[in-house]
Amino acid sequence: MRVLVSGGAGYIGSVTAARLLARGWSVEILDDLSTGHVAAVPPGAVLHRGRLEDRDLLARVFARPFDGVVHFAARSLVAQSQARPLDYWRDNLGAAVALLERLVAGGAARCVFSSSAAVYGEPPSVPIPEDAPLAPVNTYGRTKLAMEQILADAARAHGLAAVALRYFNAAGADGQRGEHHEPETHLIPRLLRSLLDQAVEFQIFGDDYPTPDGTCVRDYVHVADLAEAHALALEWADRPGFTPLNLGGGRGWSVREVLDAVARATGRALAPAVAARRPGDPARLVASNERARQLLGWRPAHSDLPQIVADAWAWHRAHPSGYGD
Ligand code: UFG
Repeated sequence: MRVLVSGGAGYIGSVTAARLLARGWSVEILDDLSTGHVAAVPPGAVLHRGRLEDRDLLARVFARPFDGVVHFAARSLVAQSQARPLDYWRDNLGAAVALLERLVAGGAARCVFSSSAAVYGEPPSVPIPEDAPLAPVNTYGRTKLAMEQILADAARAHGLAAVALRYFNAAGADGQRGEHHEPETHLIPRLLRSLLDQAVEFQIFGDDYPTPDGTCVRDYVHVADLAEAHALALEWADRPGFTPLNLGGGRGWSVREVLDAVARATGRALAPAVAARRPGDPARLVASNERARQLLGWRPAHSDLPQIVADAWAWHRAHPSGYGD
């Protein structure tokens, strides 16, 4: 298969690109490197540096058609999306539409889209099935939902075979590739960085949630399992239609349970301060992953929290400055 990976220099994108190459597929990456890293691009992938909205570049990249596209390239910081919503609407939707126009112009093709549990907002109950109410509570989630709707329209009108993968909490590292965001807002990498660099402050955001220990519960899914799901989805999507699939380990872990796992993996005692709740954080997000298991034959084989934390810690210790760029 010949596959284009937009955003393939980012965290999940680069691990996925490496996984597709390992299947023997031909992989090209389009990334503007605004948040991605050249060092994350796997050897063997062709890197096109630029933006999806650059029509000339896109025409050159698509000079030979692709069998499938995996679309990661998007702005993805929840707090930033609340402060600068128009940037998110313009960039996330503009990039997706530009890519899909090019894709459908070349005839029906496969598109695997990087979506998010953020499309559910505050769910009425957990585990969350794909047909739960779609009620995002921030602009980031609303742009992800809008992109899903665009994909569904393109599937109906233009024969696109589209799969939206709704990630829960992506975490962990896959050998040479790990999580390096600036700024880093996510729980596990922020906690690990605070152990390596005293300048990085770590606080628990709220311990008065209606959960067993009062801290938020999340479903952490190993980035290697996410990467495998993209390969499976590309193979599976051989007919027109739109299919949303949850990708989570199917088990919830509280922030305090994550702290315990980090203390065990690192041998460090942790006693972080408890700060106020972070606005917009749902109390519990846990996936029902039955549909991905059934349709794709996907198994989240690496998504046990101790393994996620051990792999993330190994990567952070080996890369204390991230990718160093
Ligand atoms: N947390 C802390 N301290 C920190 C960072 C996080 O206590 O320094 C807590 C958060 O309050 C939350 C949990 O750790 O309860 C997980 O937070 P993350 O920022 O790691 O992840 P989120 O659950 O907020 O975000 C994830 C995805 C987003 C997606 C969102 C949907 O990363 O892309 O779920 O709600 F939008």
